[in-house]
Amino acid sequence: MDYKVADISLADFGRKEIDIAEKEMPGLMSVRAKYSKEKPLKNVRIMGSLHMTIQTAVLIETLVSLGADVRWCSCNIFSTQNHAAAAIAKAGIPVFAWKGETLEEYWWCTKQAITFPGNKGPELIVDDGGDATLFLHKGYELENGSNWVNGKADSVEEQIIKNLLIATNKEDKNYFHNIVKDWKGVSEETTTGVHRLYKMMEEEALLIPAINVNDSVTKSKFDNVYGCRHSLTDGVKRAMDVLLSGKTTMVCGYGDVGKGSAEALRNERAQVMVSEIDPICALQACMAGFKVCTVEDALPFADLYVTTTGNKDIITIGHMAKMKDQAIVCNIGHFDNEIQMAELENYPGIIKDEIKGNECPVHKYTFPDGHSIFILAEGRLVNLGCATGHPSFVMSNSFSNQTLAQLDLWKNKDKYEKKVYRLSKKLDEEVAELHLAKLGAKLTKLRKDQADYIGVPVEGPYKPEHYRY
Ligand code: NAD
Ligand code: ADE
Repeated sequence: MDYKVADISLADFGRKEIDIAEKEMPGLMSVRAKYSKEKPLKNVRIMGSLHMTIQTAVLIETLVSLGADVRWCSCNIFSTQNHAAAAIAKAGIPVFAWKGETLEEYWWCTKQAITFPGNKGPELIVDDGGDATLFLHKGYELENGSNWVNGKADSVEEQIIKNLLIATNKEDKNYFHNIVKDWKGVSEETTTGVHRLYKMMEEEALLIPAINVNDSVTKSKFDNVYGCRHSLTDGVKRAMDVLLSGKTTMVCGYGDVGKGSAEALRNERAQVMVSEIDPICALQACMAGFKVCTVEDALPFADLYVTTTGNKDIITIGHMAKMKDQAIVCNIGHFDNEIQMAELENYPGIIKDEIKGNECPVHKYTFPDGHSIFILAEGRLVNLGCATGHPSFVMSNSFSNQTLAQLDLWKNKDKYEKKVYRLSKKLDEEVAELHLAKLGAKLTKLRKDQADYIGVPVEGPYKPEHYRY
């Protein structure tokens, strides 16, 4: 049995929801239809580290129908939908994911998904947040003599990664060199993972070419904005069942995720405040009608805090100690360090009470002065920890880009350098077009004389100045 899921008997339920999702994912399904005869990914070993949801199941089965040999794990300990994982396992695709993994289990799952039969590694990776990419790079560097594993870890999770690398190295001194031998590329889903890739490229540490899927317009301006506009409030409501109307809320960060989150809360008729470090984003928030202020300014008023920055230490322990009684604190950025969770856990005299467990994690923390706050999803992605993430139609855009990125990486495996690339504007437009019919939209055709008049090509190649989003 080359899988580990919570409950294989959930497979039929998972399959029913996958069938529904396929109808809501027109872009991804037409990419599947276009390439499934030709099978351009025939026998290509693809590993994925991306939330094991129903929508991801449709992505996985698309890669399989293009010929790929796929192994999968989640990129978050709380984001797996157990029935989705079960359906994938029952379809014979190795998957290692369940809702509520411990961090040790999470990294064990990552290693299982990376290791193909015969101790072979993946030829391509679909990554979300960069954990699989990090694991392979750190392991490879360790075998080359890096001392990183022996340094002081910045977090409990980092120590767990280090321990796994040390244990793997003890068992097999060549494990990672063997695993990366055939690795040809990675396509990265999210803003945080893309930041990590550019940093590695600057440091000349990248072992493979990478495609930045996040910055396709049909990804970041759709998934990050409209996806979060749907799934933020879904998560908060499932967790707390609280009326948002009339509440005072603080959204930290007004990038793509922040814009979607602030709009979601406004749509609930909440009062919305925004914090920003970037003057342009701050001005955008003002123009959208939000009050721009600091977290400190919000402390006497806010009932709900949402972090969306991809940055660390946004809500500090000092903030939480001064919040209103019953304030709700959650994060929709990628990792768990936007809220100072370690400092909260270790605060002298704090009392932690579990309200709801792994299915929809909610914890109450009572400070010695008697006030309590609620933390959702243990400070990790609230939309995937307390709800089911973005809906299928949005994810169809993201995953059409992912599939096109995998095809592109494989096609250009001998041409691409160890750099970060983006998909063309033409492919971006194709992804958008694949979704228009489902919404009953009809596009106006640009005539050649009109194109000349405004100075754009009718069809590519496009330059960055032709973007206007
Ligand atoms: P972005 O770069 O567009 O936006 C981040 C914003 O945060 C920027 O405007 C930046 O100026 C601001 N910021 C940074 N530090 C700040 C601080 N100290 N205080 C206030 N504002 C600050 O990024 P994005 O695409 O919006 O992504 C944000 C995070 O959400 C990333 O971690 C990304 O990976 C994640 N993400 C999550 C989901 C999800 O489904 N939960 C979806 C997409 C992206
Ligand atoms: N990211 C946000 N929502 C998601 C979903 N439903 N499936 C996979 N990744 C996601």
